Amino acid sequence: MSKYKFYWADTAALGLLLILLASKSMAGGTIETPPDDEASSDSRVEIIVTPAERNQILEEMRGLLEAVQTVIVANNAGDLDTVAVAGRKVGRANMTPHSAEFKDKLPMDFRKLGMDTHLRFDKLALGAEQSESTDQLSQQLGELMGNCVACHKTYRLTVQRQPL
Ligand code: HEC
Repeated sequence: MSKYKFYWADTAALGLLLILLASKSMAGGTIETPPDDEASSDSRVEIIVTPAERNQILEEMRGLLEAVQTVIVANNAGDLDTVAVAGRKVGRANMTPHSAEFKDKLPMDFRKLGMDTHLRFDKLALGAEQSESTDQLSQQLGELMGNCVACHKTYRLTVQRQPL
């Protein structure tokens, strides 16, 4: 009888040990979350580009910022010629050409927003050429800048890792 009891105590102990081991490894599995990376702290859509493509986009962006600043100052001074020139400079005709390969990397909505922004600068330039009021031009610029906000909220660039 005592032999029989011993057998069960042994099996129970072994069972308990197995349960403990299993639960420990399961707990370990749930605790091991992936380390925080950039993506988890920024939910914007990532566009993967080469360093040269990134430079091209950012250079274009700095041109847009400069245009906005020039337009605000010139419009406030009632200098509509300068507003027109600044607008045309970032209008459709002066868009930086992108290679087909580069374009393929850009989501359609991104491209549409970009194109619409250039077209709106053309419209702003046309307004200045047609002597629209300063208030109207200022209103147009504000609306155009909705595109800057929308795109920056949605997308970010990530430089593709170069093969070693
Ligand atoms: C179609 C999308 C899109 C539109 C429209 C857009 N941007 Fe950008 N812009 C970007 C992206 C993408 C970046 C890079 C952001 C990142 O990687 O975090 C950027 C970066 C910039 C930068 C930083 C440049 C640098 O050298 O680091 C400036 C300044 C900027 N944008 C200005 C503007 C202004 C002003 C407008 C509107 C007149 C505008 N952008 C419209 C997509 C856009």
